[in-house]
Amino acid sequence: MAATSGKESWLGGAGLMALGVLVLCCSSVSPCPQRCTCHPLSVQAMSGADCAGKSLKVIPRARGGEKHLQVVDLSGNRLRSLPDDAFSAFPSLKYLFLSDNMIQVVEEYAFRGVPDLEVVYLSENGLITLPPALFDDCVVLRKVVLRGNPLLRLRPPAPPSRPVAFSSLDGASSPPQLPPFISSQSLQELDLSSCAVDFIPDEAFSALPNLKKLNLSSNPLTEVDPRPLGSLCSLNTLDLSGNPIRCGCSTGRLSRWLRERHVETARALTCTRPHSDDMITVDEKEEEKMSRVYSPPCDMTLLKEDKFYAACQARLAEAEELKRRAVENKKTWIGVGSAVAAAVVLVLLVVWIFRKRTQKKRLKEERAARLAAKEKNKLDQQPLRDDADG
Ligand SMILES: *[C@@H]1O[C@H](CO)[C@@H](O)[C@H](O)[C@H]1NC(C)=O
Repeated sequence: MAATSGKESWLGGAGLMALGVLVLCCSSVSPCPQRCTCHPLSVQAMSGADCAGKSLKVIPRARGGEKHLQVVDLSGNRLRSLPDDAFSAFPSLKYLFLSDNMIQVVEEYAFRGVPDLEVVYLSENGLITLPPALFDDCVVLRKVVLRGNPLLRLRPPAPPSRPVAFSSLDGASSPPQLPPFISSQSLQELDLSSCAVDFIPDEAFSALPNLKKLNLSSNPLTEVDPRPLGSLCSLNTLDLSGNPIRCGCSTGRLSRWLRERHVETARALTCTRPHSDDMITVDEKEEEKMSRVYSPPCDMTLLKEDKFYAACQARLAEAEELKRRAVENKKTWIGVGSAVAAAVVLVLLVVWIFRKRTQKKRLKEERAARLAAKEKNKLDQQPLRDDADG
């Protein structure tokens, strides 16, 4: 009786231990950042961590468990700044949600070590400025959402301490000398809606050659000249709705520019007439009228000045060329690798054949030697027999 219950409790203990080992092993395979819930996402089989709305003041860590995370949702927390290397422990990161925090400061190397980052939401924060080189390491960055940062300025507050990237283009007569708002060779979508932007510096968008969609809706812009947009050679959608744009020469120029560049607007371009609240839709006829009625007459020559556009296209071509070369290099390396492998195999084959041959030869020689020895033996015995006969 006692023996049975002992056996049972032993079995139970073993079971518990097995369970413990299982839990330990599996949690150590992929620990989740503290206070977050981790789950394999059904979308594209990505693994993610949901850390939203947890009053977090620092980015949570997980003793190595961050390594495989591709989606991290940190929205609705209390983060105040993003220090250098903030996400370098998350090298697989593709989608990062940081909306609705209190982020004011983002250090220049905050996104270092996350080369696969594609989409960043920084909406509803207190950003004042972004370091222009912030996304330099993010070579596949596609989308940045900055919606609802009412303190954001499109120009760094202090004079530039670093030389601007893309110095190769500075030689050409007058591309912008001041640093851009942000720079990225790959960025396709930038949302700057509701950011209290009331002025677009000429150089703001001079380093975004791939930008296709720019959202500037719900800002207090009263004037949008095509000049600062001129460097966006890939732009196809511009949202300017919800801005109190005033009718004037710049509106005429903008309208013509949009048409010539085949840039779509989310809603038709409108402006309010000076000295009245009349809102008019700027179409081709209005544009034509605008270019005539103002005195002095509107200067439309700006449209012909396509230096910025050319610089953007040069940059795009440069990026393409780099990409092509990288692919070519890879191909070359694969080629060299296979050639070396083939050579090694060939050498091994030759050595093997050679060895096989010498082995055969040696065997043959040995056999011949043995035969010769036998013959010799026979011959040696012959005279003896002769003697015996004699
Ligand atoms: C621009 O942003 C606003 C709000 O942030 C959004 O409603 C609108 O659809 C966006 N425009 C485009 C073209 O995506």
